[in-house]
Amino acid sequence: MAHKHTHDNVDWPARLSSLRRADELDAPFDRDVADRLVGLLCAVAKPVIVDIGSGGGGMSTAFARALAAHGGGRVVLSDAVDELLEPATSLVRHAAAGTSVEVEAVQADAAGDRLAELLPPADLVWASRVVHHLPDQQAAIDELARVLVPGGWLALSEGGLATKCLPWDLGIGEPGLGNRLTAARDDWFVGMRADMPGVRALPVGWNTALEAAGLTGVYSFSYVIDHPAPAPEAVRLSVVDWIAWMSGVGEDRLSATDRETIARLVDPGDEAYVGARDDVFVLGASTVYLGQKPA
Ligand SMILES: C[S@@+](CC[C@H](N)C(=O)[O-])C[C@H]1O[C@@H](n2cnc3c(N)ncnc32)[C@H](O)[C@@H]1O
Repeated sequence: MAHKHTHDNVDWPARLSSLRRADELDAPFDRDVADRLVGLLCAVAKPVIVDIGSGGGGMSTAFARALAAHGGGRVVLSDAVDELLEPATSLVRHAAAGTSVEVEAVQADAAGDRLAELLPPADLVWASRVVHHLPDQQAAIDELARVLVPGGWLALSEGGLATKCLPWDLGIGEPGLGNRLTAARDDWFVGMRADMPGVRALPVGWNTALEAAGLTGVYSFSYVIDHPAPAPEAVRLSVVDWIAWMSGVGEDRLSATDRETIARLVDPGDEAYVGARDDVFVLGASTVYLGQKPA
């Protein structure tokens, strides 16, 4: 089925609950990243931060809290999908209530060429795991750079290390399922991009793409996401989400044995239900690429 609003044929509204669960788990990591990025804006009174592809709103919440501690500012959530944007904006408004942080929402296609007209000039544009869903990633980064005020920062969260969640041998099916799920997802990703109308390759790394957009002082940092076993229920449920997402997009690339194993792992009524295991975990790493618009 084709899904409206975006270019990737992903059913984003159906992802709301798992995006939220991931946001709740990632909150401590998001808070550190938000504090670090807001720290770049210490010379700016009431900075404007735009969150492109804001998803469940976790990072916008972290920005709102960081700005409140910084003396106020404005957080603008932007997403193509209203069904995500509205609940995410409510969440951030709730977190910002009683502070001097303004929160607003702008529904927009990040692949459009009018972003700089639709969005306010920003001191920081944050775009996490959204640019790789756009057909022409370099053109999108160029447009995001246009949203910045002189001296403003573009921060792209892309890449890092693929998440690991599962023991090598689960006791059912063939060992090594986690790696096969990652390979199936990667293969789906290649096809997802190839099928996008107007797709253009980005044959360079993200730092080079930021420089090509005219940004300077480009650098990156990475951080580890570590929820070790034995993990609380929220982590175990996010492992269920991970298997469901990876197997959903990669289904055609998985063997019949793996598909049977997965059906049991995600079934709360099955004794093999992965959400009831005390040996699953979430381990990954995210990378943030930064570049500044010349003053
Ligand atoms: C993988 S989620 C990332 C959400 C959040 N930024 C995070 O890192 O958790 C991708 C987000 O990008 C949004 N998105 C996808 N295509 C888009 C487009 N063309 N324009 C704007 N948003 C888009 C989706 O609706 C979703 O909220």
